[in-house]
Amino acid sequence: MSLTLGPGYPRAVTTPRRAPGGFPVVGIIGGGQLARMCAAPAAELGITLAVLAQSPDDSAALVIPASPVGEHTDEAAVLALAEVCDVVTFDHEHVPAEVLAAVRAKGVPMHPHPEALRFAQDKLAMRTRLTELGIACPRWAQAHTVAEVARFGDEVGWPVIAKTPRGGYDGRGVRLVERAEDLGDWLTRAREAGEGLLLEERVPFVRELAVLMARSPSGQLATWPVVETVQTDGICTEVIAPAPGLDRTLAEKLLTAGAQIAAALDVTGVFAIEAFETRTAEGEPGFVVNELAMRPHNSGHWSMDGAVTGQFEQHLRAVLDLPLGQPHARERWTVMANVLGGDYPDLYPAYRHVMARDPGAKIHMYGKGVRPGRKIGHVNVCGNDLADVRDRARHAADYIQGVVTE
Ligand SMILES: Nc1ncnc2c1ncn2[C@@H]1O[C@H](COP(=O)(O)OP(=O)(O)O)[C@@H](O)[C@H]1O
Ligand SMILES: [Mg+2]
Repeated sequence: MSLTLGPGYPRAVTTPRRAPGGFPVVGIIGGGQLARMCAAPAAELGITLAVLAQSPDDSAALVIPASPVGEHTDEAAVLALAEVCDVVTFDHEHVPAEVLAAVRAKGVPMHPHPEALRFAQDKLAMRTRLTELGIACPRWAQAHTVAEVARFGDEVGWPVIAKTPRGGYDGRGVRLVERAEDLGDWLTRAREAGEGLLLEERVPFVRELAVLMARSPSGQLATWPVVETVQTDGICTEVIAPAPGLDRTLAEKLLTAGAQIAAALDVTGVFAIEAFETRTAEGEPGFVVNELAMRPHNSGHWSMDGAVTGQFEQHLRAVLDLPLGQPHARERWTVMANVLGGDYPDLYPAYRHVMARDPGAKIHMYGKGVRPGRKIGHVNVCGNDLADVRDRARHAADYIQGVVTE
């Protein structure tokens, strides 16, 4: 028997099928893994998703039937999606302000709102606003010229960190600068784009932390436990929930800062605050905020299996202004290990070994093609023994990636 595809296949479905019973349609701009991971909780809740994907092969487009193809920079494409949705949210922060304004003009609710999103789109705007709010940040400056970089480095100490204000992710757009002259190419490119670069002191952090929260349009706030994140070459590779041995006062200060930022910026939906944990010369713990993300975040993937309410369900609840779910951890520890693209394109054969070796490991794969260093999945493991949980999560992720073979 052969399967025949209908005429026009694989033309994407553009009109989402609303579930009977008055359930809403949530539109997501961008078809990456964050949109994809909303699909399971949406299905459970009877909510329909529609995704504006860049290609029919996008991670989310593979599992969400209504995934029209179009660019997030194309006003007509974004409006066409918005018009069939009850609310619009985002897989990434890169939708231009003019396009967001056009959606607003049509009266379709968007979460987060453009005014809040601005601070996650532009790291210079974010630093300026956080500084105004009195939130601790690394020392920073905006630079347009080599002379300005030299002055900043001489003031805060070399090396410094340079960041492109827009469009960076997974460490792309972040650079360690030993000498001001080295930054000439980036400064030229920034000038051509009509912007400056963000310079920051290199923070001698003890470790990296993240605060993940959800805030609804009505102002309800839910906060997951503060986690430790481990970055390798600027990419998040591991998350430990909760952050082991975190000073209680520091945790409270982080949560207070999170609540203050959420309210001041009127953030809606799930959002994350990346922070560096620091120590004073006297050994006192402290923090500075690294960056904000206004969407579900890698530091929250552990919650899919480790918390009563995972971040993707919570994001749907928040953008629909439904009461939020409990964010509490289900078990003592959850460790998330990211699967990055490695040398082996064939991933599925690894399942037989990984699943047999560790039936407690929860595997999440994104349907993305393997490219070295690209996030293509993650593994969550929960339990009471942190060292064991860490080993198991790392091993499963490494095995799928092809880094280890037994
Ligand atoms: N000021 C800084 N001092 C020390 N390390 C930094 C600093 N800024 C960024 N980093 C390192 O680079 C990583 C990526 O930087 P980030 O600003 O979070 O960019 P991205 O948008 O790519 O996540 C951080 O997680 C951290 O490990
Ligand atoms: Mg970051």
